[in-house]
Amino acid sequence: MYGSVLTTPELVECVRTATLAPSLHNSQPWRFRLVGETVEVYVDRDRQLEVLDPDGRELLISVGAAIFTLRLALRSVGRVPELAILPDIDRPDLVAVVRPGPFAKPSAALSGLADAIAHRHTNRQPFQAKVVPADVIEELRAAADHEGAELTIAGPASRTIIAGLGREAERRLRSSDGYRAEMGRWTRPMARRRDGVPAAAFGPWDAMERLPMRDFGIVHPQLQRRGERFERHPTIAVLTTSGDEPASWVCAGQALQRVLLSATRRHLSTTPISQPVEIPSIREVLADRRSGRFAQMVVRLGYGPSAPTTPRRPVTEVLQQIAD
Ligand SMILES: Cc1cc2nc3c(=O)[nH]c(=O)nc-3n(C[C@H](O)[C@H](O)[C@H](O)COP(=O)(O)O)c2cc1C
Repeated sequence: MYGSVLTTPELVECVRTATLAPSLHNSQPWRFRLVGETVEVYVDRDRQLEVLDPDGRELLISVGAAIFTLRLALRSVGRVPELAILPDIDRPDLVAVVRPGPFAKPSAALSGLADAIAHRHTNRQPFQAKVVPADVIEELRAAADHEGAELTIAGPASRTIIAGLGREAERRLRSSDGYRAEMGRWTRPMARRRDGVPAAAFGPWDAMERLPMRDFGIVHPQLQRRGERFERHPTIAVLTTSGDEPASWVCAGQALQRVLLSATRRHLSTTPISQPVEIPSIREVLADRRSGRFAQMVVRLGYGPSAPTTPRRPVTEVLQQIAD
């Protein structure tokens, strides 16, 4: 209820909502601690993908996405969150402290974003040949800007270059040591598994190899996934930040989730694409070096069929409650 102190069950529900955020291979690399009304957000380094993400950049992007989702959940129960990112230099795993601040009814725009949380799913299906309207693109750019990042929509020439860079990155990753084993760890079906990418979410493979779609089925040849034609003129955006250290990665994660939710709210399907930012030399080409900016993520946008939900670990597994 707006204007009243939050109860513990309400705060736990906000944390549960935060876990609906996207994460690399659905690794869900986060832990939360509830201290009174304060939520501490930690990175869970045991869930880092050593081959794809040796620096832990995507790890913190994933945690950043959860932090933005938590902020939104607090807004939707009528509290303006107060946020401190990486507040303690001696505790680098404490990524954020989020406190419910002043009482305020959320704006229609924020309520719309909050409503989109449960409807946002990574979509790896072909999209329709339908142009994303300019006002929607503008909204997505504003969403990134709001969180201190920049979203650049690729024109026809850069789109072709980015797709080529993505394919080259995918080729190099596949031939790198440990790539297949790591992919297997996060895609193998296991009883009661509540993380990783399930086969239902792999999507078809791109028969024309036009788009750098991550092939989650690479270690599951028995699945015999069908090939399909993907859209000829995809809408591709690059998310960049001005810095490239842990705080910038958390910023990128918050911006990514704000962009994805803004897109969902406008009935767009989305696919984060990270292979091109996983090979350092390719990542450098992605963001114009003269601009001094750093590419953090590529996002594909468009109008697709519905996409499946992926599992999440129960909130009891990621949340510790401490009486204050
Ligand atoms: C940092 C990061 C990198 C990701 N990279 C890719 C990618 O390269 N290809 C892809 O299909 N999905 C990618 N995803 C999407 C995740 O696989 C997805 O969020 C996760 O499986 C959970 O599914 P959901 O987004 O449908 O909730 C990425 C997500 C994040 C946050």
